[in-house]
Amino acid sequence: PPSRPLAAKTTRDEPDPDDGRPRVTVFFGTQTGTAEGFAKALVEEAKARYDRAVFKAVDLDDYAAEDAEYEEKLKKESIALFFLATYGDGEPTDNAARFYKWFSEGNERGEWLSNLRFGVFGLGNRQYEHFNKVGKVVDQLLEEQGGKRIVPVGLGDDDQCIEDDFNAWKELLWPELDKLLREEDDSSVGPTPYTAAIPEYRVVFVKPEDATYINKSFSLSNGHAVYDIQHPCRANVAVRRELHTSASDRSCIHLEFDIAGTGLKYETGDHVGVYAENCIETVEEAEKMLGYSPDTLFSIYADQEDGTPLCGGSLPPPFPCPCTVRTALTRYADLLNSPKKSALLALATHASDSKEAERLRYLASPAGKKEYSQWIITSQRSLLEVVSEFPSAKPPLGVFFAAISPRLQPRYYSISSSPRMAPTRIHVTCALVYGPTPTGRIHKGVCSTWMKHSTPLEESQECSWAPIFVRQSNFKLPADPTVPIIMIGPGTGLAPFRGFLQERLALKEAGVELGHAILFFGCRNRKMDFIYEDELNNFVDTGALSELIVAFSREGPTKEYVQHKMAHKAAELWSIISQGGYIYVCGDAKGMARDVHRTLHTIVQEQGSLDNSKTESYVKSLQMEGRYLRDVW
Ligand code: 2AM
Repeated sequence: PPSRPLAAKTTRDEPDPDDGRPRVTVFFGTQTGTAEGFAKALVEEAKARYDRAVFKAVDLDDYAAEDAEYEEKLKKESIALFFLATYGDGEPTDNAARFYKWFSEGNERGEWLSNLRFGVFGLGNRQYEHFNKVGKVVDQLLEEQGGKRIVPVGLGDDDQCIEDDFNAWKELLWPELDKLLREEDDSSVGPTPYTAAIPEYRVVFVKPEDATYINKSFSLSNGHAVYDIQHPCRANVAVRRELHTSASDRSCIHLEFDIAGTGLKYETGDHVGVYAENCIETVEEAEKMLGYSPDTLFSIYADQEDGTPLCGGSLPPPFPCPCTVRTALTRYADLLNSPKKSALLALATHASDSKEAERLRYLASPAGKKEYSQWIITSQRSLLEVVSEFPSAKPPLGVFFAAISPRLQPRYYSISSSPRMAPTRIHVTCALVYGPTPTGRIHKGVCSTWMKHSTPLEESQECSWAPIFVRQSNFKLPADPTVPIIMIGPGTGLAPFRGFLQERLALKEAGVELGHAILFFGCRNRKMDFIYEDELNNFVDTGALSELIVAFSREGPTKEYVQHKMAHKAAELWSIISQGGYIYVCGDAKGMARDVHRTLHTIVQEQGSLDNSKTESYVKSLQMEGRYLRDVW
C-alpha cells in the first residue's frame, strides 16, 4: 500500500508556488488516455517518494491559453517531464498539437530554457514509419533550446508492452530525481517503498425510483453548441449501405449521419469521431462474468462523500450516472482489447482462488514478461477472454471501471462527403473489422460491427444513433482550385477523396475552373470491392476528376498496387509535381503509405535526375510546403 494516504494530497491544498519547495510538472499529450494515465501514475508514485517536492500532472492544452503563455510559464519551470503520444503520420495528439506547433517553430528563441531539467517519454508503435516522432522531436528541441536532459528519451512501443517500457524508463528516472530532490541528509534513508494503489471509483447503488436520469453526455441540438470529444452531438443514422458486392467475403459500409439542425459543422477532409456501442453478445458475456444483473442501477464517483478526490485526483471523470450495468458495459467499457498488466494486478486483488491470483500476479510481473507477451499480446486475448480464465475473480464495479476495463474510445473516420454536396450529412466509409484471432475467437471491431448492424432512418423511425464529433484536419484541397492534384487512396483510403471530388463537382457546377486531378484507387477485384464505382465514373464524366486509375490486386497472376500504377505514370506525375501540384495519400500507414512514399521518392529522383540526398530534401520540402499531405492510420 502507499506509504501515506494519497487522498489527502489534493490540488486544492497544495501550497502556493513560492514556498521554496521544488516543483515538477508532468505534461501529457494524450489521445486515448494512456499518456495521461502514465503521467498521473508517475505523479502519484513521485509524491510518495519525495516529500519535499510538489508534483503536478498537466494537460498540455490546459497549461496555456496562447503561445506567449507557454513561453512565460515554461521559463519558470525547473523540472519538467513530458509524456507524448504520436499518432498517424507522425502527428501529435489533439491536446498537444498547439504546443507542438509552437515549440517546433522556436528555433530563433535560442537557449532560453537553460534553467530547465527535462525528461521525455514517448508513446508510439514501432509498426509505424514515424515511430515516436513527437517524443523524439520534443526531446531534441528541449535540448536545443537550452534544457538539460536528465534521462534518455523513452520510446514506448504499443506494439509490445508499453507498460514495461514505462517502468523501465521510470527506473532510469528515479536515481536522477533522487539527486535533484533528496536532501543531503535523507540520502541514507533510500527511497520510500512504493506500491501503486489499485484505482477505484466510489460506487453508490441507486433504487430505480430514486433515479433522476439525466443523460449529460449529449448536448441538445440547439444550433449553438460547440461539440468536441467530451461533448459529442447525438446524430441519427440516416442511410446505411453495403459497398461490396455479394461476391466479396468482406464488408464495407457506407453510412450517413444526419446532422441537420444540430449545429455540427465540418469541412471536406475532416475526420468524424464516433462513439459506438459494444454488441449485445459481448455485453452479456461481461455481465455474467461480473455477476451483476443488467438492470442494476448505480453511480460512480471519483471523490469521497466530502469531496476529497480519490487516488490523488488521478481517476478519469466518471461517465454519466446513474446508469445501469447494461448501459455502462455497452457504452463505456473497452472489453475486446487485451488487458494491461495493471488490469491483471487489479483483477488479482479480487480473485478468491489464491492460485488464480498468483497466476495473474505472475503474468503482470517481470518474470512473467514472456508469457504475458505470448499468452495475451500475441494471441490477441481480449479482456473478456482473460477474465473468463479466472472464474474466481469478481471485481466490484468501482474497480472494474477504474482499473480493469479502459474507457471505450471513439473511433475516427475520414469523412467521405463534402459539405458543399451534403451540408446536413456526414458520410463515413468503413471497412468491417472481422476475423479469427490466434485463440479461435472471432474478433469483431466494435465500431464497424455497430455500423454494419445499425438501423438507418430510411428503414425505421426507431433508427440507430451515435454521439459524434468532428475533428479538423489539414488534409485540404489547395485554396486555388486550378492547382493540379494527385490523389492516392486504395480501399477505404478513398474516403476523403470522395469528399474532395464532391467538392470539385460542386465548384465545377458553380462555373469554377478546375486544375487537373488524378486519382489512384486500388482494390482486390472489380467485381467485389470496387467501391463507389459508378460515382467515380460520374466524376470523370462530369470533369470533376480528370483521370481515374485503378489497380486490381487480385485479378491477374501478379499483384497490382497503386504504387505500380504510379510508376507507369512517372513522367506525368513529375510534370504535375514540378508545376506546383499537390499529392495526397490516404489509407494504411504501415504498408501502403510507406510503399507509396518510396515510389514517390523514386519518381522524383529519376524524373528530376537528382541524387539521393537532393531527392530527400525535395520530398521534405513538398511536405513542409503542405503540398504532400497524408491522412494515414
Ligand atoms: P491485397 O489485399 O490484394 O494485398 C485495398 O486494401 C487494396 O490495397 C487491396 O487491393 C490491397 O491488396 C492493396 N494493398 C495491400 N497492401 C498494399 C501496399 N503495401 N501497397 C499498396 N496497396 C496495398
